[in-house]
Amino acid sequence: MSLIKTMLLFSALFLGMSSLVADELGDRLEKIMAVPVDQDYAEYLAEGCSSCHQSEQGTGTPVIEGMAKQRIIISLLLYQNGSRINAAMKSIASSLGDEEIASLAEYFSQMAESE
Ligand code: HEC
Repeated sequence: MSLIKTMLLFSALFLGMSSLVADELGDRLEKIMAVPVDQDYAEYLAEGCSSCHQSEQGTGTPVIEGMAKQRIIISLLLYQNGSRINAAMKSIASSLGDEEIASLAEYFSQMAESE
């Protein structure tokens, strides 16, 4: 088992998830990390996020630019499976497939917070 998956398993169990759910999440994380990313597609998708996620702090919406790719992926998967609760992000995350999640996570993680 990879280090990232082991770490995810621990945090998922901490959040009260069953080990089966945590294990599935770990598998999806590894799968999504391996998906090749098309930069143009990523940029196009990211336009839909920027209305809420802007660089400026203090709007109540977290800044995701420059966030670690794994963390973005895990957050989106947690909104999808209902472990992390937020109505807006649940409906957004639920509409994303592996390729979309990989593209968005790569795009935002590569962006500097000040851009
Ligand atoms: C309607 C406004 C809105 C839109 C559009 C939106 N988000 Fe969010 N997002 C939020 C809010 C509000 C939160 C904080 C929710 C919470 O407290 O869990 C959040 C949280 C997140 C987080 C978790 C950040 C963390 O601190 O762990 C990620 C990752 C994320 N959004 C990614 C995206 C992506 C990718 C898109 C585009 C596909 C997107 N969001 C579109 C409002 C939005």
